[in-house]
Amino acid sequence: MTLRIGILGCGKIARLHAQGYKTASDLAQVVVCCDEYSVELAQNMAKEFGADVTTSWQAVIERSDVDAVSICMPPDQHAPIALAAAKAGKHVLLEKPMAMNMEECKQIVAAAEQADTVLMIGQNQRWQPEHIQIKELLDRNAIGKIVALRFDCNQFISRMYPPDSWIFDKAKSGGGMITQTAVHKIDLMRHFFGEIDEVSAFNGYTGLNPGYKPGGNEDISAFLMNFENGIVGEAFYLFAAYKVPIPTATGELTIIYGDKGVIHNVLGWHIYSTEIPEYSGGLTKLDIHQHPYTDSVNAEVRHFLECIRDHKEPITSGRNNLGTMATVFALYKSAETKTVVKVEKTQQ
Ligand SMILES: NC(=O)c1ccc[n+]([C@@H]2O[C@H](COP(=O)([O-])OP(=O)(O)OC[C@H]3O[C@@H](n4cnc5c(N)ncnc54)[C@H](O)[C@@H]3O)[C@@H](O)[C@H]2O)c1
Repeated sequence: MTLRIGILGCGKIARLHAQGYKTASDLAQVVVCCDEYSVELAQNMAKEFGADVTTSWQAVIERSDVDAVSICMPPDQHAPIALAAAKAGKHVLLEKPMAMNMEECKQIVAAAEQADTVLMIGQNQRWQPEHIQIKELLDRNAIGKIVALRFDCNQFISRMYPPDSWIFDKAKSGGGMITQTAVHKIDLMRHFFGEIDEVSAFNGYTGLNPGYKPGGNEDISAFLMNFENGIVGEAFYLFAAYKVPIPTATGELTIIYGDKGVIHNVLGWHIYSTEIPEYSGGLTKLDIHQHPYTDSVNAEVRHFLECIRDHKEPITSGRNNLGTMATVFALYKSAETKTVVKVEKTQQ
């Protein structure tokens, strides 16, 4: 059976979703592309599929010949559209961050459960082939019991989005570096190591991104995490980095410390392990190559379609993502109150 897809919002990430559906043409066909503010973007995307074009997302979810939608709009639109889509019986692939606050996230999850539809969040980093390989090593206990981790990310947001973008407006984006970027690694680390118990964060504003206003979105965040299993984590995120000072393939550093070794991704993925002879001579470069970002979104889209076909809960289901979003909102609360904040326990 071919699933009929509507793409809602035809900007940057939607182009990757479209590519994903094209790659999974054995399972799906895009039948309509919608962009409220740029009909040209919708037309260009629709051309590739011979799909219809509209500026109304309501018109898409009212169509009986649409089985599922990709929601690729700014975060303030996620809850109203995901709720309406579930009510109309549509399966939903919803971009990160799931929504603007915990209440909205829970409502989206409840609506999909009530409608018995698939709700998946676009946390594509879980499908990056190199992350899958690292998870296999961790699951094999290659560096023993994990005790600590560090991750960071260096980007320059003003070079990535035009000055009038929704991304600079807190009322539309819900936040800066944490909701837009750190949400990926928080989700990946939960996938690797389980739930985060408490957090402590300092957020800042550099003044280097004119679109951001003081008191608005953060373009720096430094935070600490205590996982339920005792792992201590440290993260640093900067949305105003002229250059990436630590040479990693993606501009994102990851270091994982075990009681029997270490894994890191500086100048490629490396491992040292006291347990595995071939890795015990010193830091050893792993045969893990960087794949294009599109590969992870292609795999994410295929997983979404397979879950609909097989009536399965996605790995990054809305229900699972509540733990990621609870961590995100705990980080904001910590930065505001200058206290250590417990992460809300969510249904898993
Ligand atoms: N998974 C990832 O790696 C990744 C990367 C980038 C963005 N994102 C997420 O994807 C979402 C979109 O980000 P983007 O970078 O593609 O933004 P974008 O600005 O490039 O595209 C958003 C599009 O949505 C359209 N739009 C806005 N409101 C609409 C509405 N009501 N109806 C129809 N269309 C509407 C806009 O006209 C625009 O074309 C955000 O939630 C963002 O966090 C995820």
